Amino acid sequence: MTGAAPHIPVLLDEVIAGLAPRPGETHVDGTFGAGGYSWALVQAGARVYAFDRDPDAIYEGGALEAASNGKLTLHKQPFSHMYDELRRMSALPVDGVVLDIGVSSMQLDRAERGFSFQADGPLDMRMGRAGMSAADFVNEAGEAEIADVLYHLGEERQSRRVARAIVAARPITRTSELAAVVRRALGHREHDKKDPATRTFQAIRIHVNRELEELEDGLAAAEKALAPGGRLAVVSFHSLEDRIVKRFLKERSGAPAGSRHLPELKSRAPSFEAVAKPVRAGEAELARNPRSRSATLRVARRTAASPWAPKGRVS
Ligand SMILES: C[S@@+](CC[C@H](N)C(=O)[O-])C[C@H]1O[C@@H](n2cnc3c(N)ncnc32)[C@H](O)[C@@H]1O
Repeated sequence: MTGAAPHIPVLLDEVIAGLAPRPGETHVDGTFGAGGYSWALVQAGARVYAFDRDPDAIYEGGALEAASNGKLTLHKQPFSHMYDELRRMSALPVDGVVLDIGVSSMQLDRAERGFSFQADGPLDMRMGRAGMSAADFVNEAGEAEIADVLYHLGEERQSRRVARAIVAARPITRTSELAAVVRRALGHREHDKKDPATRTFQAIRIHVNRELEELEDGLAAAEKALAPGGRLAVVSFHSLEDRIVKRFLKERSGAPAGSRHLPELKSRAPSFEAVAKPVRAGEAELARNPRSRSATLRVARRTAASPWAPKGRVS
């Protein structure tokens, strides 16, 4: 990276080792952020198509794009659209795809983006700055729907209690108001290790940005875009995401033991080679970057088999 990066890339060396870029290859960074991975790929001699649905990330990445001598182009699109976008640019197939799921430090640290319960801001949380905001959701959704979202996407065991408190406190327009409502509902003590609002904020963010659907569609799009021998690297930050990645790769690498889809899968040729063990941050990185604590990297190599039929959403 040139200059001081506001977002420290997680597992950078391991991601680049997994993608193994060679000069002249084409790689896709589905989650540009501050461009940590993209720039390392450019420096390795690759041509990089980088996606981010956050207009701020694309705008701020303009300097890297300009410095890249045409090696890096930025695309303000969700990564689920990568296949169509790459086809439009005659850039298929590609040799590597990386996804670094979740929010960037820039998004979290800027109160006006509304992701943080530690700083007051408008209750927004939209990575793409369009569509339903967190405020729309908490003020308009039914109590049962809110409880479902908190339970499934935040693993909040007291989801009904929190949902009831949210509905009673409407309208809620600021992050600090939502955090206070949750803390009151669950009881917050100063020395608690984890703020009780953490799970609610995570759930609403994932819901508003359709993050799990995006991940499923992005994996299917990557499978279609990768050349035989192409590498897929995915960094995820919590179990809901990692479960999706793990299941996707397990099914497609022909290791479906215990899968309820077993009879269907047996007839398919694996589209990925057997998957190596997940990689986690070592001591040195943990000390340098606390965000790496919950990161899991999975890398897999594409076979020459046809991509499996996408599950509906990807064209
Ligand atoms: C964890 S950061 C990536 C950081 C990046 N690897 C770096 O080194 O700076 C995640 C980024 O992905 C973007 N993002 C998340 N989901 C996305 C999606 N479905 N499509 C495109 N971008 C997405 C976010 O806006 C954010 O900028």
